Amino acid sequence: MKERAIAALEHYGTSCSGSRFMNGTLALHEELEVRLAAFVGKEAALCFTTGYQTNLGAISALIGKGDHVISDRFNHASIMDGIFMTIGLNRSVNVHRYKHNNLEDLERVLSRIPLDAAKLIVTDGVFSMEGDIVNLPGVRKLADTYNAAVYLDEAHAIGVIGATGRGTMEHHGDMTLADVVMCTFSKSFGSIGGFIAGDNIVVDYIKHFARPLIFSASMPPANLGAVMAALDILEAEPERVARLHEIAEKMIKGFADLGFNVGTAETPIVPLIIGDNEKTFLFWKALFERGVYVNPVVSPAVPPNRSLIRTSYMAIHEDDELDTILEISGEEGRKLGIIA
Ligand SMILES: Cc1ncc(COP(=O)(O)O)c(C=O)c1O
Repeated sequence: MKERAIAALEHYGTSCSGSRFMNGTLALHEELEVRLAAFVGKEAALCFTTGYQTNLGAISALIGKGDHVISDRFNHASIMDGIFMTIGLNRSVNVHRYKHNNLEDLERVLSRIPLDAAKLIVTDGVFSMEGDIVNLPGVRKLADTYNAAVYLDEAHAIGVIGATGRGTMEHHGDMTLADVVMCTFSKSFGSIGGFIAGDNIVVDYIKHFARPLIFSASMPPANLGAVMAALDILEAEPERVARLHEIAEKMIKGFADLGFNVGTAETPIVPLIIGDNEKTFLFWKALFERGVYVNPVVSPAVPPNRSLIRTSYMAIHEDDELDTILEISGEEGRKLGIIA
């Protein structure tokens, strides 16, 4: 990936210094978009400069005046900011939030909206703090019943779940479950940027109405080169994804056996739910001092009283490293009374 980033930089320079609509489109952008669309089984894709901008641009382009947007309560902040941007553009929209991954609550919301009103259900594929997976077949069924479209944020899913890393749709065995797919390049792709994928007509519409795309300089060549290399690796070496699944299973079971509360984790994001801010920070510090790097997460990133340590893994973690993490976490967790 580093070599490909360097090659792109040598060939094209450090930056396009302009928006996609001006001097900011390279053959590399378009080549990558064709490949990404094929990877997620959609007709077209469009790259943005960050994942955050992708959600801002795509959501604010898709939601029109008087439309309804229905969002899972645990969705990433960039999704809410996309909705806020729509409102900021002086379009009155109807915003609904439903209980996390709760189909009954989603149906309660949908059933109260007129059937012919335009509706967009927005959900993360893998939830960023809890590591659980959306019940996408259930969401799709409700969307079909109540005449809604489905927007799926795959930031933590592509490269992670599904047998070949194609994300939540592949995990559930049906690549048509979402109408619009979004992903960032800052996680599995080891770069920065993001993309949106869907039908030609939808992506073309987003391209012409997404202000964060139109009024911001495009992804730089080096970042494109790195993403392209990551995609090659992902396509050629699915065994890395299989290894990641093995690691996730080992760590979820390992922490649960030690007595930690891992919530509903099913992916390589494994939360250790503590609920007390001070203990969360003390635990983080103890782990850090012993060489285990994790993230402490407190409100507003999670609901109050649900503070947690977010552990996450890569395919290159080795079993002895994982065992050491479990051992140290167990010892420090016991000292702080987090586990018995
Ligand atoms: C679910 C989700 N969506 C979108 C984003 C935004 O992506 P980026 O940080 O690459 O701009 C993130 C990243 O933090 C995320 O976790």
